[in-house]
Amino acid sequence: MKILVLNGSPRPQGNTAAMVKAFAEGAQENGHQVDIVNVCQKKIAGCLACEYCHQKGSGHERKCVQQDDMQEVYPLLDEAEMIVLASPIYYHGFTGQLQCTINRIYALDKPKNLNKAALIMSSGSDLVYGGAIFEYQNSFLQYLHLEDMGMFAAHGKENQSPEKLKELRNFGKNL
Ligand SMILES: Cc1cc2nc3c(=O)[nH]c(=O)nc-3n(C[C@H](O)[C@H](O)[C@H](O)COP(=O)(O)O)c2cc1C
Repeated sequence: MKILVLNGSPRPQGNTAAMVKAFAEGAQENGHQVDIVNVCQKKIAGCLACEYCHQKGSGHERKCVQQDDMQEVYPLLDEAEMIVLASPIYYHGFTGQLQCTINRIYALDKPKNLNKAALIMSSGSDLVYGGAIFEYQNSFLQYLHLEDMGMFAAHGKENQSPEKLKELRNFGKNL
């Protein structure tokens, strides 16, 4: 299947990137196609709430008026069967860059082929995942009707540990 990973970390060699890489390697081994979008290396602004995307019969329904790098992500969202949200935890939630990307999904209402989701989180401390999990469960599993394929978290010394990376690789491999 086609899998889209949205990585919200600004650190290309960081903890989230390591988990994403292990997951992607496992999934690719199993024949899945994985697209990784590092949203912090893109210019993706927040939603303007202009409703341009929702004007019925306008010819620009499901299109965002903002011509930034989100335009590259929309086709990937519509093609993907599974979305993986990957983020360091910032102030108990996703990074701002990932949150802007998530909010811009609004233009599509529901991405066309999406039916599965997973969550990957990295943090300094344990027990800080409530905000990210709340958004994942309510906006993605419930609102977009996606099946939860798994939630993964690493904090402190677990980050980039061989055990954690093996867990992510196996997750990808067993999809
Ligand atoms: C702005 C900022 C806010 C953060 N907020 C939290 C937090 O609320 N709880 C926590 O445990 N770690 C927090 N951290 C630590 C990161 O989540 C942690 O270092 C993570 O492993 C970084 O992942 P990365 O290497 O993929 O970027 C914060 C870091 C930054 C830079």
